[in-house]
Amino acid sequence: MNLCSARGFLFLPLAGGRGSRYNPRLMSQPTVNPARVPRHVAVIMDGNGRWAKARNLPRLEGHRRGTQAVEEVIRAAREIGVEYLTLYAFSVENWSRPALEVRGLMTLLMETLRRYARELADNQIALRAIGRLADLPGRVREQIKITEKKTAAGAKMTLLLALSYGGRVELVEGVRELARRARAGELEPADIDEATVSGALYTAGLPDPDLLIRTSGEMRLSNFLPWQMIYTELYVTPTLWPDFGREAFLAAINEYHKRERRFGGV
Ligand code: FPP
Repeated sequence: MNLCSARGFLFLPLAGGRGSRYNPRLMSQPTVNPARVPRHVAVIMDGNGRWAKARNLPRLEGHRRGTQAVEEVIRAAREIGVEYLTLYAFSVENWSRPALEVRGLMTLLMETLRRYARELADNQIALRAIGRLADLPGRVREQIKITEKKTAAGAKMTLLLALSYGGRVELVEGVRELARRARAGELEPADIDEATVSGALYTAGLPDPDLLIRTSGEMRLSNFLPWQMIYTELYVTPTLWPDFGREAFLAAINEYHKRERRFGGV
């Protein structure tokens, strides 16, 4: 995966960009306003199973095809200047899936990280995993550690992988940590405010998502970043995740451009 090859930036269909003049395929693509690119995009990648079922393929094949969509979306996000891209790759609830699927997903994740670590680093993308990482098999944890280290200097974009992630679990862990600090006398309960709570979460220091993209048409949050997404713009598409790609991502960004964000004000 050459995320931002020499042609990457030239092909970006920015309004008036050079790429759109020469490539007829891009003429039909949505344009991106560089001044209104969301800083943080979160994605619920849903529909891999349905995609596979519709083709009489094993569910794992849907996940495998899903990694191609992951690749395209990372590339497009990096090109248009998204600073943080958070992908919901495995939830705490997903552990209840058949053992074969869970094992297959873990292997896929590990292989994908191993394969793309170098390209992420070359494209200045820092990888970070969030979630109950201690739940993951040792081989996956090890590969995450290696990839995080290899890509740590990436200053153009941070790719957050939510793994064994649950929003409520994240809040419980954060609250426990604050209670521990209060008991140790390091924190006055009366001093706890929204910033204190935000700072106790996996996403401490990061801006809240501006845009949530959910594929496969389901209209729910599924325990994904509940504290962080109170004012996030929601974009739901019926497209199944393996069919989602660059154009679909740019269409979501285009839709985001049309949103008027008032954060409860007028
Ligand atoms: C939801 O589809 C998808 C997942 C639980 C896994 C997402 C994983 C990938 C896209 C591949 C690996 C990711 C990375 C970052 C390398 P589903 O199985 O719930 O689909 P369904 O609702 O149609 O059954």
